[in-house]
Amino acid sequence: MKLIDGKALSAKLKIRIKEEVDEIKERGGRVPHLAAVLVGGDPASQSYVRSKVRSCDEVGFESTLIKKDETISEEELLDIVRDLNEDPNIDGYIVQLPLPRHIDPEKVNLAIDPRKDVDGFHPMNFGRMTLGLPAYLPATPQGILAMLEEYNIETSGKKCVVIGRSNIVGMPISILMAQKRKTGNCTVTIVHSRTKNSEAEIRQGDIIIAAIGRANYVTADMIKEGAIIFDVGINRIEDPSRKRGYRLVGDVDFESVSGKASYITPVPGGVGPMTVCSLLMNTLKSANEEIYKRV
Ligand code: GUN
Repeated sequence: MKLIDGKALSAKLKIRIKEEVDEIKERGGRVPHLAAVLVGGDPASQSYVRSKVRSCDEVGFESTLIKKDETISEEELLDIVRDLNEDPNIDGYIVQLPLPRHIDPEKVNLAIDPRKDVDGFHPMNFGRMTLGLPAYLPATPQGILAMLEEYNIETSGKKCVVIGRSNIVGMPISILMAQKRKTGNCTVTIVHSRTKNSEAEIRQGDIIIAAIGRANYVTADMIKEGAIIFDVGINRIEDPSRKRGYRLVGDVDFESVSGKASYITPVPGGVGPMTVCSLLMNTLKSANEEIYKRV
């Protein structure tokens, strides 16, 4: 079994991004600027956004964190989004999800200028991705593709089983893995809550991408010998032996599955660090006008 080391790959890619930022600075250009909007006090969201801002510092980007109380109205949040759309100093921004229940995430998503949608969640980017046109790819799928490339894993003709059909991971990675592209050409199955005999489907997978948010869901008996496993889950489970009272586990039971898989991403240190890196890459692409030209 080989470990797919997302932490190491993300560190390597961040060095590359920093080198590009240094070049921009040398020629007197404007450094890329990412903004993040965080609404409310969800501990996981706070931790993700902190990590995104910290990563901006590491690569020399400018960053702006806009923190708002969970009582913010939908209209106030939409005003912030409009301001960010119009701010010429901001190359890209994200509105961290989930949002409080009184705010419609779809409305917020639609209000984001697709040219600054470095999350790749806007229908313009999702549609362009689906058609194989240049687009900001969502962070987690892009991170998985980068790992497949780095480890020279052949995907063409393989059976890929994606567990979960969320808009931010399951659905986009299923589309990308099926596309005619270097890391693609898979025969893709999506396993979801209405799938009959999920385990039999998962057992067919040469490549398994688990993104359902259920701690240790995939066990060794559910995978074929030599399967390649991407574990997208980040689940907090109680652990009184830890100072903070919990530990993080994936959607895959690492201990049992690692004995049977040929490659596996650990949690933490696998897919997670790659997602932040993807966001930085998208922000750099925006600053360089690689996907859309400024008007
Ligand atoms: N919440 C969980 N993952 C993400 C992400 O990639 N982007 C945003 N904006 N919110 C999230």
